Amino acid sequence: MPAESVFHTLRENWPADIVIARSLVAFDDIDSTNTYALQHGDPGSVILADSQTAGRGRRGRTWISAPGKGLWFTVVMGAPLEGLVMAAALAVRDAIAPRHAVTVKWPNDILGNGKKCCGILIESQGDRTALGIGVNVHHTTDDFPPELQDKAGSLTSIFGGIWSRDALLLDILRHLDQKVMLIRQSQFEDVRNEWAQACALIGRRITINGDTGTVEDIDPHGALQLQTSQGTKTVFSGDITYLDGDE
Ligand code: BTN
Repeated sequence: MPAESVFHTLRENWPADIVIARSLVAFDDIDSTNTYALQHGDPGSVILADSQTAGRGRRGRTWISAPGKGLWFTVVMGAPLEGLVMAAALAVRDAIAPRHAVTVKWPNDILGNGKKCCGILIESQGDRTALGIGVNVHHTTDDFPPELQDKAGSLTSIFGGIWSRDALLLDILRHLDQKVMLIRQSQFEDVRNEWAQACALIGRRITINGDTGTVEDIDPHGALQLQTSQGTKTVFSGDITYLDGDE
């Protein structure tokens, strides 16, 4: 008889109250939950894996997804939704917040004590949108490659304590449900303002994509207005380095 899936209890007791994720498709191993979601996912389902052999991050990076260490999942949606990335970052923050304060690093990383513990990757193909979320949960510092050890952490390595991946997934999805509902009820502005405030970037000196400057504003689409020595530049994506302290 094949061994039970790591997530079989969760799958068998999947709650009925989560609107954006009516069902769970769980794997012990997969290449990438985002790839599966884009190729085979049913909108309204969530794809979860204990490990990914080809987990991917933003800007073509590899996302390390070892078995038992994290929460690697993708919510399958239909057409792209404006503000989804903001909703997702806030949902992860709010799911962790009752136990520990974490911050949102523009555009959608979650940091605990200055270390990245969650990343979000949204991809679309045809009529499917894949909202991929990776939360580092059980890693020790040594589980990360040496060059990442001062930048990345897991909930356990940063905060200690015992974290249930099942409970965390449900908490994130319930918060996401609320934020997505707000966006669908035309309250995108509220979500955007909450996210812009959470990013806490206005007035900060940063370097991004080779430009250094002070963030003047975050525009309605989430892009940064960066005041540089060559004038104001609009920045849609990139990795921020803060020049005036951590987080
Ligand atoms: C980032 O670069 O910060 C985004 C990382 C996103 C990782 C998640 S894990 C689940 C989903 N499947 C993937 O291959 N990537 C996303």
